[in-house]
Amino acid sequence: MLDLIIRGGTLPDGRVCDIAIAGDRIADIAQRIDGTAAQEIDATGDLVSPPFVDPHFHMDATLSYGTPRVNASGTLLEGIDLWGELRDLASVEEMVERALRYCDWAASMGLLAIRSHVDTTPDHLNTVRAMIEVREKVRPYIDLQLVAFPQDGLYRAANGRANVLRALDMGVDVVGGIPHFERTMADGAASVRDLCEIAAERGLPVDMHCDETDDPHSRHIETLAYETTRLGLQGRVAGSHLTSMHSMDNYYVSKLLPLIAEAGISAIPNPLINIVLQGRHDTFPKRRGLTRVKEMQAMGIPVGWGQDCVLDPWYSLGTADMLDVAFMGLHVAQMTHPQEMARCFTMVTETNAAIMGLTDYGLEKGKLASLVILDAANPVEALRLRATRLAVVSKGQVIAQTPRADAEMSLSGRPRTVARRH
Ligand code: FE2
Repeated sequence: MLDLIIRGGTLPDGRVCDIAIAGDRIADIAQRIDGTAAQEIDATGDLVSPPFVDPHFHMDATLSYGTPRVNASGTLLEGIDLWGELRDLASVEEMVERALRYCDWAASMGLLAIRSHVDTTPDHLNTVRAMIEVREKVRPYIDLQLVAFPQDGLYRAANGRANVLRALDMGVDVVGGIPHFERTMADGAASVRDLCEIAAERGLPVDMHCDETDDPHSRHIETLAYETTRLGLQGRVAGSHLTSMHSMDNYYVSKLLPLIAEAGISAIPNPLINIVLQGRHDTFPKRRGLTRVKEMQAMGIPVGWGQDCVLDPWYSLGTADMLDVAFMGLHVAQMTHPQEMARCFTMVTETNAAIMGLTDYGLEKGKLASLVILDAANPVEALRLRATRLAVVSKGQVIAQTPRADAEMSLSGRPRTVARRH
């Protein structure tokens, strides 16, 4: 007996299919599935996609905007200072409550897998305790990966290194870092080596905030590529942000990109945050700060889009909608060719899932039955509209539904419905 059939939806590749679900698995996916199920959803004309995935977030800080005050300069560094105060004021219970509220938003948007960096700087590690609790609480509907993130530096903070190891011992999934924030370029490079060796010893992935600066000479991605290759970590290392690459010398980048490709490193730019935080010290012309997305993709380097922040010391907006993230990325990276626009949608679904190592992901028979039905005909229209998530299915359960948002117009006494679909 089937539990759910989704009829006649259009997949991102354009195929029109029925999808049958039994338990938490996709039982079948075919042009026409005979039989009945306990529940049926008519998705005729609508886009049925695998769920959205966010490979870069800060769930310990989310929904804290304005506490203890707003970021007046709008810079990364004032955000780090503000968070430094907040993380000692917030209780475990408060952080869990804020994170669960965010996860409700995420689930309603079809965002069902998130990798969150967790600050390991304070000795109390309340951030880690809170996020491990959240990971367990949301497990039935969201896959949450945690990264041990030494926000104030592996060496620059008093117990930076020891606390990363404590967090990993507590069950955090991924090794993080912040080499550009260490005291010197040499310390930054040493931290990359040290953290990659920790990951190699423990068999863990690496996801490092790397070169999140406008400084064209911040070149820790070069060290990350070198250490990844030296330690045989290919395929399990990601470099987040990489904004310095925006400002680097073109000749140097022509040498760097093949090294990143050879190391099998993934890149995770965060366009909403990069466009807001970078270039703050410029007058005019003012740099965009987003890394070289299309150029890396042309080299075969996997590039996803990350959200990074929602309503926190670094970003005063945000809704947990990965279509907002892709929409901003599309504009800033000038990815306006039809194939590039479609790729922006794939970046926040399949590419991000691959970066997070989600092997049970995708609209295929036998995979986990997680998907989202959008009020759009295709991925590009979904981006243009930031389309309504008509239904979200997680692990076989319909967990959220939103009515179609067509306007009811009344002009010259003639009522009519106006949809924004093309
Ligand atoms: Fe971040």
